[in-house]
Amino acid sequence: MSSPTIVITGTASGFGHLAVGRFGDAGWNVVATVRKPTDLGIHGEQPNVRTLLLDVDDEAAGLGFGELALAQFGRLDALINNAGYYQAGPLEATTMDQVHRQFQTNVFGLIALNKAFIPIFRKQRSGVIVNVSSISADGGFPYTSNYQASKAAVAALTEGLHQELAEFNVQAKALHPGNHMTRIFSKVDVARDIPDDYLPSMHHFQTLNAVRSDPAGTAEVMFGMVTDGDTRRVHYYSGPDGRAIPRVKQLFGQDWYLEELSARNRGAASALWNAVMPAPVSSGAGPR
Ligand SMILES: NC(=O)c1ccc[n+]([C@@H]2O[C@H](COP(=O)([O-])OP(=O)(O)OC[C@H]3O[C@@H](n4cnc5c(N)ncnc54)[C@H](OP(=O)(O)O)[C@@H]3O)[C@@H](O)[C@H]2O)c1
Repeated sequence: MSSPTIVITGTASGFGHLAVGRFGDAGWNVVATVRKPTDLGIHGEQPNVRTLLLDVDDEAAGLGFGELALAQFGRLDALINNAGYYQAGPLEATTMDQVHRQFQTNVFGLIALNKAFIPIFRKQRSGVIVNVSSISADGGFPYTSNYQASKAAVAALTEGLHQELAEFNVQAKALHPGNHMTRIFSKVDVARDIPDDYLPSMHHFQTLNAVRSDPAGTAEVMFGMVTDGDTRRVHYYSGPDGRAIPRVKQLFGQDWYLEELSARNRGAASALWNAVMPAPVSSGAGPR
């Protein structure tokens, strides 16, 4: 019997790149996508990895990608919708074009790929779809509202899909990574002409999030999501902050959590907050 096959989008760096290695090393066939022709050689010459071009903003290409991916190794078992980027800054200073582009990549492009693979998985009565959301969808962070709204849309979409596809033995799952050291932070689409009023608080908030976790842990969580056989669980978390925030929200309740978060962002974190929120575990290495 042939090896299982996974499709992973956005594999030039970060979680996607690490996940290609994780699945490839475990004997999976991997269809890896990149959006720049110069990245087509990024995964080397591994026989069980085929790298294809895909800009997820191109919905027509996304909608046709299921059949193209199936043709690579003759079977499809899983899809990780990982491609995405970070638009940041106060909403007031974010242009509507920036808002639309953020949703085009993080939400509409991802929906097109879900639509491309669902009929294949439904007909074969098997398949796992991992949609990459973010802990910011749960977090309630400032200067991130557009990005976190796009990631909350991904989480909500996946909850609905999970119910919709369960009867066909197809599992839709959402991954909420915490803050990790990838290249995403060197490509941030920053809001334009930010009023000076915001700058002191914004810079303070950035210093609070300067330490980031090793992204290899997230590639491991991706591998677990696809292979654990758990048909009931929808949401998975990675990184110490990613795992802690949903628990702290449950412990405190939504409103108290947001009050405590707000105090922490003002530099007045309570002893309780400091006790329950873990620090990131950095590898000490640069972005991956
Ligand atoms: N790092 C974190 O702390 C963190 C936390 C929560 C969630 N996430 C999410 O995790 C996912 C992976 O991010 P990462 O941190 O690994 O960052 P990354 O290293 O920048 O990887 C993101 C990948 O997505 C690709 N991409 C972006 N826009 C695309 C498009 N329109 N079409 C196709 N590919 C596109 C990028 O391609 P290029 O190299 O060409 O730009 C890159 O390969 C993203 O969805 C991100 O929002 C990250």
